Amino acid sequence: MIKANAYTFKILRYDAKEPGSGPCFATYRIKVIPGLTILAVLIRIRDEIDGTLAFRCSCRSAVCGSCAMVINGKIDLACRTQVAIFDTDTIILEPLPNFEVIRDLVVDMTPFWNMYEKVQPYLIRNSPTPEKEIPQSEEERKRIDQYVNCMLCACCYGACPVLAREPDYIGPAAAAKLERFVLDSRDERPAGTLDVFNDEKGVWACDTLFRCIDACPKDVRPTDGIVGLRKAMVKNRFQKKLGKTKDEA
Ligand code: SF4
Ligand code: SF4
Ligand code: FES
Repeated sequence: MIKANAYTFKILRYDAKEPGSGPCFATYRIKVIPGLTILAVLIRIRDEIDGTLAFRCSCRSAVCGSCAMVINGKIDLACRTQVAIFDTDTIILEPLPNFEVIRDLVVDMTPFWNMYEKVQPYLIRNSPTPEKEIPQSEEERKRIDQYVNCMLCACCYGACPVLAREPDYIGPAAAAKLERFVLDSRDERPAGTLDVFNDEKGVWACDTLFRCIDACPKDVRPTDGIVGLRKAMVKNRFQKKLGKTKDEA
């Protein structure tokens, strides 16, 4: 329910090109109607009050993943968050944590994309490419369902406490994506491709605090992916060890 006719929006503003001038909160008073989203407020501020306000958006319907930010202390998408859900008429907007701020609510996603690229987020095949599609049973598709839903919004990355202290950590989204391909019945990546994430900066850095799960707007459970990868790595290692023993015998 709407708490007042006009709400106060405090937005953390900063320009990395002028580091001496911030960061500081700018305050705006905006008339609110039922159904108004945080993104709609930002667009109104930018279009009608302050054209210098910077934020990312595209689809406006929780599909593209570009409008993630901190809204009254909680990481979420601005386009799917209605102003009326808050128990207060003051709303504080801040950029995603664990990233360098470029300007206002726009962060530098480079580390996120670098890690995403590192997990090779595509099918790797050794078998000859078939003339038609590679069939998958319903059961096989179900195994990857939740991971396919990831829209790369980085809410989980911003929420992860490990990334705050270890910027080289694989991170929840990339780990979930890796597990998505490991579980995919069509993927034939060699087990050894997981080795690069089998260390204290890889999947073993996760503290299993589940904040990534809480933050994900698409109900992906990155921690499940991390646990799955850990199991696969232990199994690979065990098999290698068995192989060695066999060879030696
Ligand atoms: S469960 Fe692991 S990846 Fe997810 S937020 Fe916690 S430490 Fe980060
Ligand atoms: S796992 Fe969820 S929170 Fe993380 S990038 Fe994908 S959709 Fe966003
Ligand atoms: S604008 Fe696309 S997810 Fe919010």
